[in-house]
Amino acid sequence: MREKQISLTIKVYDTPDELRVDERELLEEARQALDKSHSPYSNFRVGSAALLSNGATLSAANQENASYPVCVCAEVALLSACSSVYPGVAISKIAITTRAAAHPSDSPKAPCGQCRQTLLEFEARGGKNIEIILAGDTGPVYKLGSVKDLLPLHFSGSDL
Ligand code: THU
Repeated sequence: MREKQISLTIKVYDTPDELRVDERELLEEARQALDKSHSPYSNFRVGSAALLSNGATLSAANQENASYPVCVCAEVALLSACSSVYPGVAISKIAITTRAAAHPSDSPKAPCGQCRQTLLEFEARGGKNIEIILAGDTGPVYKLGSVKDLLPLHFSGSDL
């Protein structure tokens, strides 16, 4: 038996002001996308924004349904928009932020497992790492260099 270590590096910024300008703007776009959230059941808003390799940006938010399993996460809505509006264009960075109705979020919240798997597929499709920026309303901002950092022991098309 031997142990295998898988390490993860998260860049932690004390405030968004420490981010590069394009990343700060992308996070701001994700924050604005919170207004597009349809979340009357959970009262939990998720806003996301993508910077594509052609310089375009798109944003999306979670879209809930009275039939709960039909809810669409912000990240899935965003990725679908990217591949529909700009088919074949790789995604460079994605910013994600959350806000519960009851209280502002004071720390970054990470994407759910289904979103991680969907993000991984889009990273493979684009052929380049997607940087992930996570932030609450306040508190630190996290930056990861690749979706694989969110899903280290992953299943992908190359396993088939
Ligand atoms: N949600 C997302 O949009 N992304 C995630 O990664 C986790 C959860 C949404 C789904 C639902 O509308 C609400 O957050 C509460 O789970």
